[in-house]
Amino acid sequence: MFDLIVKGGTLPDGRVTDIGIRGGKITAIETLEAQAGEVIDATGDLVAPPFVDPHFHLDATLSYGKPRINASGTLLEGIGLWGELKQIVTQEEMVARALEYCDWAASLGLLAIRSHVDTCDDTLKGVEAMLEVREKVKNYIDLQLVAFPQDGLYRDPTAHANTLRALDMGVDVVGGIPHFERTMADGAASVRELCQIAADRGLMVDLHCDESDDPHSRHIETLAQETHRHGLSGRVAGSHLTSMHSMDNYYVSKLLPLIAEAGVAAIPNPLINIMLQGRHDTFPKRRGLTRVKEMQAHGITVGWGQDCVRDPWYSLGTGDMLDVAFMGLHVAQMSSPDEMARCFDMVTNQNAKIMGLEGYGLHVGAQASLVVLDAGDPIEALRLRAARLCVISKGRVISRAPRMDAALSIPGRPASVRRRHKVD
Ligand code: FE2
Repeated sequence: MFDLIVKGGTLPDGRVTDIGIRGGKITAIETLEAQAGEVIDATGDLVAPPFVDPHFHLDATLSYGKPRINASGTLLEGIGLWGELKQIVTQEEMVARALEYCDWAASLGLLAIRSHVDTCDDTLKGVEAMLEVREKVKNYIDLQLVAFPQDGLYRDPTAHANTLRALDMGVDVVGGIPHFERTMADGAASVRELCQIAADRGLMVDLHCDESDDPHSRHIETLAQETHRHGLSGRVAGSHLTSMHSMDNYYVSKLLPLIAEAGVAAIPNPLINIMLQGRHDTFPKRRGLTRVKEMQAHGITVGWGQDCVRDPWYSLGTGDMLDVAFMGLHVAQMSSPDEMARCFDMVTNQNAKIMGLEGYGLHVGAQASLVVLDAGDPIEALRLRAARLCVISKGRVISRAPRMDAALSIPGRPASVRRRHKVD
């Protein structure tokens, strides 16, 4: 007897099977004849583990236009604008916006989020707000928080103390922004200090690292070395790494093995970085995305992150990790079938690995969280940004949506124009 059976779905690896759920866990993956409280017919549909976003800013989300828009479209104006907003925003507003986003995300099958939370505010109201949100969404979203000194660990006079306070309050991961410190030397020193804090406290590290078009922004090198020195392999990520796009190829040929050897993961954020980078260029204009395929070829774990939805840095976004992977696929030119399928894997399994999620995936004993998509396989899911027909979190159905063709068909015409399961 099962609480729930998802019947006849196609897994990302192509297997067609039933999934039995009991007590919030996956208890069977095989053909099932047993009874269940509810049976979901997923025949012909893709059944995937939930989407995971390893890089987001929940404290700033859905604040677009407050108190004004980012006129230059640059990272630096965004930081300045957020600095104005955080003086006037209330804790209650931050909680309300974050909860609205979480509901939106969950309906799109995004059930685990790593969110940076700004610690450059002596009141730490954003930290208080996000801890409250983490508690409120825990039954359907796994929220991991990063203590993020947005204005620089050393550049902001109280950032160091406030970042430690945030960690004491229960924030999960150590963050930083070395390329925003006043000097390269201060940036490197911040990386060393933040890795020391993480090593002392047994925490993970995720730094905004080298989010710049400056090829001399090389803090990832220090991050890799400090990861190696402290034995933090597998617990450290460098977010963005956009300067690598502009680095000299000889230097990168030395850097990539160093990152791989250290066990540092990379989190490029294609939607925001194709928008922000290259703003100081005329033409040719650099794309500003880090070297995704090249890192993967060296065995480095790479996931796609979202970063922003309607905030001081990015005016669009929906919480859809298929949009993130779709943009990443284009900008990184990951167009072969294997590479496209890998992009789907990046917003599911690779991101879960980066966040260290326990019980993630489609296997017996895993947490019963999954998404039924209106697609035949991962590539089709990307092509269509397919509807999330059913979202199950921790054993409960939390969201349902209609098929796209039902919504888009022309009266009197066949309703199967958008979807085609197999490449002929
Ligand atoms: Fe970010």
